[in-house]
Amino acid sequence: MNATIVLLPGDGIGPEVVAQAELVLKRIAEKFGHSFSFTSHDIGGIAIDKTGNPLPDETLAACRAADAILLGAVGGPKWDDPNASTRPEVGLLKIRKELGLFANLRPIKANAALVDASPLKRQIVENVDILFIRELTGGLYFGKATKLTNDDGSETAINEMIYSTHEVERVVRVAADAAMKRNKRLVSVDKANVLEVSRLWRKTATRVIEKEYPEIKLEHILVDAMAMHLISRPGTFDVVVTENLFGDILTDEGSMLPGSMGLLPSAALSSSGPGLYEPIHGSAPDIAGKGIANPLATILASAMLLRHSLSLETEAAAIEAAVDGVLANGHRTKDIAAGGPSVSTTEMGQFVLDALA
Ligand code: IPM
Ligand code: MN
Repeated sequence: MNATIVLLPGDGIGPEVVAQAELVLKRIAEKFGHSFSFTSHDIGGIAIDKTGNPLPDETLAACRAADAILLGAVGGPKWDDPNASTRPEVGLLKIRKELGLFANLRPIKANAALVDASPLKRQIVENVDILFIRELTGGLYFGKATKLTNDDGSETAINEMIYSTHEVERVVRVAADAAMKRNKRLVSVDKANVLEVSRLWRKTATRVIEKEYPEIKLEHILVDAMAMHLISRPGTFDVVVTENLFGDILTDEGSMLPGSMGLLPSAALSSSGPGLYEPIHGSAPDIAGKGIANPLATILASAMLLRHSLSLETEAAAIEAAVDGVLANGHRTKDIAAGGPSVSTTEMGQFVLDALA
């Protein structure tokens, strides 16, 4: 198969981890007889530095023309000035919106070799296998934002949380389709005891599942309770669907279950067009340039890319098996080494390449 893959390394450790994932994709192409072409473009802080725009037109055009996009991370203290005219994160939000990437798949799975790296007890996390589906182009993130100066000189800021029926329907369908391939259990998270938006969300989710997916067992959980259940009984969840901000928060919480954020990939999908794949972790400016970042989340994101955008299931599974093997052999980057001996970013990448040889 021929495929065009756009790389958006971004800021901080982004370039370091994307470089390793690129090598892995090249190895896969070689091994399975595919032809992948790669082009690299700027997004986030580095794009602001070069062009003043966190998502240059040239980057967006390349993404639209691609079969899939692999992103590192955006942001860092250099661009954190609250008075700056734009921010790296704006580039990420804009690409999500422009490409219609409404469904964000964030699988959270315990790795047998690493359960003891989790801050939670082994018996709580050892069976964790959750697929979070976070709505990614609606809600507070994209509602109207207003800033007012009051008569007394104080300020008021307003963010609108907004969802319409079809936005809830389409993301619930993505979650339900995934649940049908898993254990047919779906949890929808909302705050329907307080928010009008959540009552619409709950009503819509209930209708879609009852009408279109009668086999699925749907449960509604309030977001505050979910934050608690995620720690007390994470092993009981299958597929979880929720709106944008709740999903942002809960998936960061969930990312600690397997031990390190450095292990978790994600996929942002639209109804047609290229998907965007990235590690869940951020740009980690504190360790950027030191060569110690964990490349495995980005490598696993490249496996999701092969699976969801190129329908290359065997190839995706080969990468996942290689990563499992490397971890089972005891190789650890600093974030998962628990103070023990650790390997560098490039060494970890090389272990995965070797496992794919
Ligand atoms: C994420 C990140 C982004 C978000 C930031 C960087 C805008 O935290 O992908 O979870 O809030 O969506
Ligand atoms: Mn986040």
